[in-house]
Amino acid sequence: MSFQDEVKALKERGDIVLVAHNYQIGPIQDAADYAGDSFGLAKKVTELDVEYVVFCGVDFMAESALILNTDKTVIHPEPKARCPMAAMVDIDELREFKRKNPDTAVVSYVNTNVETKAESDVCCTSSNAVKVVKSLREHKVLFLPDRNLGDYITRFVKDKEITLWEGYCGTHDNITVKSIMELKDRYPDAEVLVHPECKPEVVDIADYVGSTAGMLKRAVESHAKRLIIGTEMEMGHRMRIQAPDKEFYFPDDPLCQNMKKITTDKVLRSLKELQPVVDIDKKLMERARKPLERMMEIGRGN
Ligand code: 13P
Ligand code: SF4
Repeated sequence: MSFQDEVKALKERGDIVLVAHNYQIGPIQDAADYAGDSFGLAKKVTELDVEYVVFCGVDFMAESALILNTDKTVIHPEPKARCPMAAMVDIDELREFKRKNPDTAVVSYVNTNVETKAESDVCCTSSNAVKVVKSLREHKVLFLPDRNLGDYITRFVKDKEITLWEGYCGTHDNITVKSIMELKDRYPDAEVLVHPECKPEVVDIADYVGSTAGMLKRAVESHAKRLIIGTEMEMGHRMRIQAPDKEFYFPDDPLCQNMKKITTDKVLRSLKELQPVVDIDKKLMERARKPLERMMEIGRGN
């Protein structure tokens, strides 16, 4: 039986949904009931009336799904699939900052661990980071952990004092202007689409900056025949399916090793055994829910 057929057979019981982030390998995205960006998946899981959610993505995504849906059982096929940027916040340093700056709002990217969320006023994803920061009453803001997404926010929010944490995503931070310009020299008509986790100088030369779902939408709607994509290479999977007449180029071959720790075998095992279950301390979860719910209320930006 093919992987797709095995997944279908295991889901026949009707109480399991399979969701996958846009960086999951093609076969997993194809087998999923829903594929999307961090915000879209968090929203979708909340809307579903289902008992089990098998979440194919990195740890913070599965954790957020549980925090927002304690009535569901969230299963993460490989708990070692962890976003390294989420680990770039030292919780004692954050608490010390808050103690010294009680008038500063703490905005944390969803790419953070539960302890960091519990210390935050509001969360955001790449799709609504600008909208979230603009919505704040406070003049002073600490944005963490991604300095590149933080820099992107400062381009649109001029009336606030924004302090940036020194975190970054290695996958995106390694994408260079040089590689993009080499492709631009070869294909001058190509449009450049990048994720806001890219360095500021990469964002400077982009025609479009947005979340993974935003980039997919733009790739499909764009009039350009060739597109240079500044994000994880697996984005090419659905771009090529949804825009088969276009060509996609990924400078520097960006790869998120952690996303790739979820394999088809692990997905099948999770569907069969309904394990490993995401489990978070209840008190911590209560505190982390508020900033996540506030983010969901603010809604998607792009
Ligand atoms: P999106 O929310 O745009 O899907 O991004 C998540 C992520 O981890 C990007 O590296
Ligand atoms: Fe984390 Fe970067 Fe992977 Fe996204 S691409 S999950 S930010 S390491």
